[in-house]
Amino acid sequence: MSTHIKLFDTTLRDGEQSPGAAMTVEQKVEMALALERLGVDHIESGFPISSQTQFEATRFIAETLKKSTVVALARLKESDIDSAYETLRTAKNRMLHVFIATSPIHREYKLQTSKEELIRNIADKLAYARKYFDRIEFSAEDASRTERSFLIDVIRTAIREGATTINIPDTVGYAVPWEFGDLIKFIRENVQEFEKKKVDLSVHCHNDLGLATSNSLTAIQNGATQVEVTMNGIGERAGNCSLEELVMTLKVRSDLFDYHTSIDSKLLYPTSKLLQYITGFLIAKNKPIFGDNVFSHESGIHQDGVLKNPATYEIMNPSDIGRSTETLIMGRHSGKHSFKSKLEQYAISLTEEQFENAFTKFMQVADTKNEVYDEDIFNIVASLLGSFPLGYRLSYFHVYTGNTLLPTATVRITNGGKEYVSAATGDGPIDALFQAIDSALGLSPILREYLVNAIASGKDAQGQVKVIIELDGEQFVGRGTSTDITEASALAYINAINRNLFRK
Ligand code: KIV
Ligand code: ZN
Repeated sequence: MSTHIKLFDTTLRDGEQSPGAAMTVEQKVEMALALERLGVDHIESGFPISSQTQFEATRFIAETLKKSTVVALARLKESDIDSAYETLRTAKNRMLHVFIATSPIHREYKLQTSKEELIRNIADKLAYARKYFDRIEFSAEDASRTERSFLIDVIRTAIREGATTINIPDTVGYAVPWEFGDLIKFIRENVQEFEKKKVDLSVHCHNDLGLATSNSLTAIQNGATQVEVTMNGIGERAGNCSLEELVMTLKVRSDLFDYHTSIDSKLLYPTSKLLQYITGFLIAKNKPIFGDNVFSHESGIHQDGVLKNPATYEIMNPSDIGRSTETLIMGRHSGKHSFKSKLEQYAISLTEEQFENAFTKFMQVADTKNEVYDEDIFNIVASLLGSFPLGYRLSYFHVYTGNTLLPTATVRITNGGKEYVSAATGDGPIDALFQAIDSALGLSPILREYLVNAIASGKDAQGQVKVIIELDGEQFVGRGTSTDITEASALAYINAINRNLFRK
């Protein structure tokens, strides 16, 4: 019988550590619900001590989820463990995730600690954590670059002191498959407690060399019982092992792998789309599994083959991953019922109030565009979840531009009862607009990224603008959508400023 591999999803923790991928509390809760429906076993919802947003998001997710285990990250520190417990106390299923770096380079430069002190610290803090948690995952950060004999000492200590899962991260994405597989085999052979105490052996691979999925698959073949993944492979630097690649490899190559996950693969594509719209991280056309080109064929020979039998050039069906070949186009005559079933098709669950707001927005979009595509719907939901109840609102703007004019912009912004008006010139219309907003609000953020995308197709397609600004030493993402990209730019810029305001 095929063996079940547990999936530990860290989209909301490691994934959110991708620069610019920060999510609001509402966005994280919506994503957590989507991941739970998808079927992941564990959802790491954040690092509660690191910020108020992370704390609140973990607390809400813990209160909301019914099936998946909610996991909170903590350093080996009592204050971190307390904070994790505070957020998880109402969870139906909860687990603590503690980590400390074990490799020589981290011990010497980052922690400045000896092996003995590290072992003592692990024992002390796990004894403390055990008072609150009966399920604890222990991660030996940078395990793949740690001396093997010391790693075995660390693992034995952690299991003796109550860890129920041992996680082996390839933190810097340095390992290659046969080496990583050999490490997992070595650990299994040298720590009998995995068998005796039914402790899970987990892996957490980063993608710096593009090997995260291969390394995770090799780990499974050598005895790992859990894999840590993120949707769309987002995460620190080059990201983490991608959930969809791992799941679909096990499925498509079930002739080679006698392992399965509890993922409902038909929900993969909708879940990926939701994340893309929430974070603004749209994936490349050639990306495995979800890229636009994965099921399109350019060469005549390929097209001919696919028409005769799709299996000639396609190793999976679009429907296997929930990618419908037919898109129901909606318009202003589509009622609440069809809007609701569209959300259900994509496994999006909104509260009643959110649903009403989304439907109002949908009708506004349907009034400006004749045809509303699935992409527009994702965007409506994502922008709604990313909005802030309080903050600056764009009341109006004017931009004058041309190749013989100095671009000039005027803006009026409101916040509560206050209004802020200013005008400015710039190198181009968008620069003038951003300068006017800065001058009206008395702020001087640094613009780090500016990106425009067309949502769906057609001349009346909406433009989605994503900006990343740096303010008070931190980066904030902002998104705005409109059929007018100048307006979308102003909305995105103000959205990023509101995120900073919200943080304060
Ligand atoms: O990459 C890493 O080592 C981590 C740990 C916290 C598991 O993210
Ligand atoms: Zn990581």
